[in-house]
Amino acid sequence: MKPEIVFSRSNKQTAGLAVILMAADGDGSVGANNADPQGVAKKAVKISEFKAKELATLDVVAPAGSVADRLLIVGSGESGERDEQFWIRLGGQICAEVKTAKKVTIWLDQADEKPSPEAAAGVALGILLRAYRFDTYKTSKKGEEKKPKNVRFTIITSSAASAKKLLGEVEAIAGGVTLARDLVNEPANILGPVEFAAKARELTRLGVKVDILTEREMKKLGMGALLGVAQGSVRAPRMAVMHWSGGRAREKPVALVGKGVVFDTGGISMKPAAGMEDMKGDMGGAAAVIGAMHAIAARKAKANVVGIIGLVENMPDGNAQRPGDIVTSMSGQTIEVLNTDAEGRLVLADALWYCNERFKPCCMVNLATLTGAIMIALGKNHAGLFSNDDALAARLTTAGLATAETLWRMPMGPDYDKLIDSKNADMKNIGGRYGGAITAAQFLKRFVGDTPWAHLDIAGTAMGSISNEINRSWGSGFGVRLLDRFVKDNYER
Ligand code: BES
Ligand code: ZN
Ligand code: ZN
Repeated sequence: MKPEIVFSRSNKQTAGLAVILMAADGDGSVGANNADPQGVAKKAVKISEFKAKELATLDVVAPAGSVADRLLIVGSGESGERDEQFWIRLGGQICAEVKTAKKVTIWLDQADEKPSPEAAAGVALGILLRAYRFDTYKTSKKGEEKKPKNVRFTIITSSAASAKKLLGEVEAIAGGVTLARDLVNEPANILGPVEFAAKARELTRLGVKVDILTEREMKKLGMGALLGVAQGSVRAPRMAVMHWSGGRAREKPVALVGKGVVFDTGGISMKPAAGMEDMKGDMGGAAAVIGAMHAIAARKAKANVVGIIGLVENMPDGNAQRPGDIVTSMSGQTIEVLNTDAEGRLVLADALWYCNERFKPCCMVNLATLTGAIMIALGKNHAGLFSNDDALAARLTTAGLATAETLWRMPMGPDYDKLIDSKNADMKNIGGRYGGAITAAQFLKRFVGDTPWAHLDIAGTAMGSISNEINRSWGSGFGVRLLDRFVKDNYER
């Protein structure tokens, strides 16, 4: 489906689907009588014992005398309990119920609550996010149109005028999430490091300055940790640097850094076959960074933000690095690679160090599908948050609560740090059986100096995540809205 969204304060119901909200106490949307002159919705609610629980739906054929074809009654729960997320989820729920309708009229205002312009814009965001499909590789059956169906959503509310002004922002955010989902869903035969970098390059259209570092340039910079991972692949690595300057000229940028392993076989420490296909999504961190940069640039955020992604493929090969190899990172610190499957931290080590050196950012936030251990610890409802700075951690946690991309802070400290000391080099890339997500974070911390830094381990949330009203895609786009919000609420002038 290709949704088109308009806001209106008119009271006109058109043909198609009419969406009526029903509060738990039984009151329908204000103005809904335009769609339902005979009060069929109320009757339907009564005879089917519809409790109007939050986002529950009841579908009825519109009566003769209504210009609508169908009425969709959606439970709006209790007033006072409708937070920002409610409106976004509502949009998603409505989008899921469109069926054959080409026009959808949503009667948003309720007797007990006139939704704010932000709430109305939230409904639009929910629609756009739920409409996402990854169907690039579904060839159309005979005679079937592959072109997505255009559906026009008219959101009727007294906040229409102000909501309209927020639509650009909504589209920027939805565009960023869509981009990230597409990248995660795309298979690795199509999306290698070079192709991924080209996707970053496309942000130039939005006014982002994009630099792509080639293998030669990375060699010159001494990025031995990243290059060690890349050397087993016939596909050359890249590092994409995206620079958005919407803030004051000399203000230090916020830096977003992403793990972009386009496919992780584990390398010589190879992964088992079962489920390995999921490792096409091991660039979920990089996808979130690109998606966030898209959103930030598309809505012309008044902040300076750099996005850096390390792009490699982790393959076994005659030229691949071996367990026991010692590599020298750009920082000069040496790393004994005891397990070639712990490759994300090697890529990030050089990306973080480079970022810090070149941009002297006010803070760095990296995202990575870094460890299976974070899923053991937190399941799939929270991403792990690790940080050397309490204020930064609090800002990220708050942003995650606002966008329902929730984070859970994990401990760090010298006792964990010791676990990655090595006999043969400055450190080793694995820390033993226990606390695997934490030792991975301790490893990254050795490459960030004194800069306020946070690491989000999104292995459990970036892909194969729990499906909900606004996402049914394998690649979730987790982190895009969180990062955009984090920038918006803390760094814009
Ligand atoms: N990309 C994986 C982590 C991962 C696993 C992400 C499952 C998403 C789903 C990462 O590179 C990895 O292989 N980590 C190892 C580290 C270990 C060798 C210390 C892991 O978690 O098992
Ligand atoms: Zn790995
Ligand atoms: Zn990996």
